Amino acid sequence: MPHSASLHDSDTQTLVHVRGITKSFGEGETRISVLNGVDLDVVMGEILLLVGPSGSGKTTLLSVIGGILDADEGEIHIEGQSIANLSPSAKTRFRRDNLGFVFQQYNLLPTLTAGENAAVPLLIRGVPKKPAIAQAADMLTKLGLGERIHAIPSRLSGGEQQRVAIARALVGEPRLLLCDEPTASLDGDTGHKVLEQLQRVGRQSDRAMIIVTHDTRVFEFGDRIVHMDDGVIHMVQRHGDKAP
Ligand SMILES: Nc1ncnc2c1ncn2[C@@H]1O[C@H](COP(=O)(O)OP(=O)(O)OP(=O)(O)O)[C@@H](O)[C@H]1O
Ligand SMILES: [Mg+2]
Repeated sequence: MPHSASLHDSDTQTLVHVRGITKSFGEGETRISVLNGVDLDVVMGEILLLVGPSGSGKTTLLSVIGGILDADEGEIHIEGQSIANLSPSAKTRFRRDNLGFVFQQYNLLPTLTAGENAAVPLLIRGVPKKPAIAQAADMLTKLGLGERIHAIPSRLSGGEQQRVAIARALVGEPRLLLCDEPTASLDGDTGHKVLEQLQRVGRQSDRAMIIVTHDTRVFEFGDRIVHMDDGVIHMVQRHGDKAP
């Protein structure tokens, strides 16, 4: 039996509630089952780390939790709201107002500068361009990119593009931040800056964060480490537990 990744403290409030999620891709002989019954709770103020081998379903799970992909079965509630039951436009609004993503492939808009890319979540919420860019520039500076605010992504290194993607996710101050390998291209110094900013947002009492990572530097920042294999969660480790 897979473990249910839940905290049972009565004084904690659940932000993300996931039960029995399955997801497959393809049809007939090419069909593959990627998520095979995932149960997971994330409580307010928690930073949850998701680890597991390549292909185990981590990105798929983040995409399903964030409403980018629909699950085949199961239920997901974010702060009591079932995203699957929302109309397409309500779903878009819910994601815009509550969720932030740092994608594994960054997904920056190629013709926009770093500052403009990082400002996107504010611009789509209707914040005027000048304050939006100023806020984005401030976050980019905190992440060590103050000199690169006017550069377009093709002129940035992989690690710089990654930090623009992180700044974009953080400026929106999302309730739930979903990060897919956010430090993979970062050296020690920049990785530390990024983790500081992620922690500042994720630790707020009304927010939470799920970070997919292979990076052992990130482990000390997490409250729990959830291990995924073949589309199920098979072990949950709390911070301070000894590795098996
Ligand atoms: N759109 C898709 N169509 C078909 N198969 C897919 C699709 N997306 C993912 N898969 C398959 O689902 C499985 C899980 O993919 P996923 O990206 O979730 O893995 P992951 O744990 O994030 O791996 P990694 O650590 O390499 O990023 C893989 O076998 C992948 O090939
Ligand atoms: Mg992945």
